[in-house]
Amino acid sequence: MISEKLQKAINAQIAMELWSANLYMAMSFYFDRNGFQGCSTWTRKQALEETEHAYEMAGFLTKRGGTPVVEMIPEVTNHWDSPLEAFENIYMHECHISKRIDELLALASSEKDNAAQDFFWKFVREQVEEEATASGIVERMKVAGDNSILYIDGQLGRRQ
Ligand SMILES: [Fe+2]
Ligand SMILES: [Fe+2]
Repeated sequence: MISEKLQKAINAQIAMELWSANLYMAMSFYFDRNGFQGCSTWTRKQALEETEHAYEMAGFLTKRGGTPVVEMIPEVTNHWDSPLEAFENIYMHECHISKRIDELLALASSEKDNAAQDFFWKFVREQVEEEATASGIVERMKVAGDNSILYIDGQLGRRQ
């Protein structure tokens, strides 16, 4: 049985994952209407991954005797001035999410809930990848400049 504190924290994180999904979806729309089809595909896939994270957390909560719920999701931005600005936003957003996951792990540790710690470690590792991927794309976009941005867009469109 999961503690009340952890249940509350996981439900808050489910809302954060859905917030992330909405941010990526908003970006996917933005990229699509501005001619960056590759970036649109990339962010669309990421939106689905974030939704999947919310499902994973809900599934864990249910298995442990808790009750997952969908809480209020914060509003997301819908406007960016360039693909670079959007990916800088992604990087900052993922750094923020990483801190939240670290806090969840710390809470699981203070509650002496080993299963929850084990569960959150997967997300700790996932965040390392997400931060590195976003900052890598930001760096490539900076090097490419405006003239080569469509080349990077093409590469991002091949995301599996
Ligand atoms: Fe996530
Ligand atoms: Fe993420």
